[in-house]
Amino acid sequence: MEIRQDHNLSLEEMDKQSFLHGYTALKSHLETGPEIIVSGSGVRLTNSAGKEYIDAVAGLWCVNIGWGHKEVVDAIAAQADELAYYHSFFSMGTEAPIRLADRLLRLVPDNMSKVSFGNSGSDANDTNVKLVWYYNNLRGKPEKRKIISRKRAYHGVTVATASLTGLSNVHTAFNLPLPMVLHTETPHYWRHAEPGMSERDFSQACARKLEEMILAEGPETVAAFIAEPVMGAGGVIIPPEGYFPEIQRVLRKYDVLMIADEVITGFGRTGNWFGSETYAIEPDMMTIAKGLTSGYVPMSGSIISEEIWEVIKEGPPGVAAFAHGYTYSAHPVAAAAAMANLDIMERLDLPQKCAEVGAYFQRRLREVAADHPLVGEVRGDALLAAVELVKDRETKEAFDPDLLVGPMLSKYAMEEGLITRSLPLCDAVSFSPPLVITTAEVDEALELFERALHRVADELVRTGAWNP
Ligand SMILES: Cc1ncc(COP(=O)(O)O)c(C=O)c1O
Repeated sequence: MEIRQDHNLSLEEMDKQSFLHGYTALKSHLETGPEIIVSGSGVRLTNSAGKEYIDAVAGLWCVNIGWGHKEVVDAIAAQADELAYYHSFFSMGTEAPIRLADRLLRLVPDNMSKVSFGNSGSDANDTNVKLVWYYNNLRGKPEKRKIISRKRAYHGVTVATASLTGLSNVHTAFNLPLPMVLHTETPHYWRHAEPGMSERDFSQACARKLEEMILAEGPETVAAFIAEPVMGAGGVIIPPEGYFPEIQRVLRKYDVLMIADEVITGFGRTGNWFGSETYAIEPDMMTIAKGLTSGYVPMSGSIISEEIWEVIKEGPPGVAAFAHGYTYSAHPVAAAAAMANLDIMERLDLPQKCAEVGAYFQRRLREVAADHPLVGEVRGDALLAAVELVKDRETKEAFDPDLLVGPMLSKYAMEEGLITRSLPLCDAVSFSPPLVITTAEVDEALELFERALHRVADELVRTGAWNP
């Protein structure tokens, strides 16, 4: 094999020649090249050209404590110095993940019993799928294995979790979804409720559709329902009033487990430690990642109830050990980072701070955007929000997807110095800033956003794509 030894390449050129970026338009990346971020502090990032941004999305919804906390960096260094790695198979262990599991169980609902650690939200959800199957097999219900997710859900990109994800761009050309996954309605009141329906009516209608699906498939074949307390990547969709209690009534009736995917909503994002608390969810399993370490190093977790634990601890006959786990499950350096991250979250009372600054943010975002003629809906809760643009506010008609109106908004925002995120398959951009954001920084961010919004409107009028 010939090894290329190109010297004097710029970092940008090196990237284009050697790096495959996730969720990136690969061909146009070869033209535009990468945007390289070199440093961060609080809610601000700096790129390799020295341009500063406010990151209104905390990386990928994950840097809850913001950048530059030396306390976390020191905890990582101290753990790496003392013991950089040991595994957790064969009853082996290290101190930090044991303490972390114990601490997490004091933050989650009381029925939760054990934490299994992983390295990404995807692998934790994959673990949850396997645990659901294992549990039902051990209960003598091997045919009870289908998982119901929702259209527009996001649960990851592994073979199983990309299947759970309810976005067509994650399936197309990947031979997905797997047949054991079904997708029920998106609970998006603004987009899908029939005229005259209250939010409660709409929640009941969603629950009815779920029940119809379970009955059509046969309840004896349906194992679990998975949901993000707030749908994130699929559009920042806040559950309508009474949604989860209605859904759970159906799940209980047919012995279907509830998996709360708290990968985005965990660790303060909705104004409580977990979205399950904010939206009255009573999970049998929880998926955590992102805010667990605020992204300083990768770590995720699957948390299971006492009821599930009681079954799986017995194991299948003739099999000595629980045959699941990753080399880097319960990595001590990641656990040390998580412990320091949680120290900061507790000390700053970040869930409460998120509720307070979040209320301000939601009000200001509506003041800035809700009456703009391009804006169909401003939605959100605490420090999680989206603004969806439409061609016609009355009919909610969307723009031609080829116009890339959502990406245009996030591109202009970025030029103004604000990082937002354009969401897939709709013209919405999202906000999920670090929970340490101040009201002054909210004002600053929204000023930049407002400028970008006006620029999009001007551009659409100028090109004749929009006639307000
Ligand atoms: C709700 C949810 N679940 C799972 C995942 C997958 O996590 P990861 O990208 O760490 O695999 C994500 C990622 O954004 C997510 O938002």
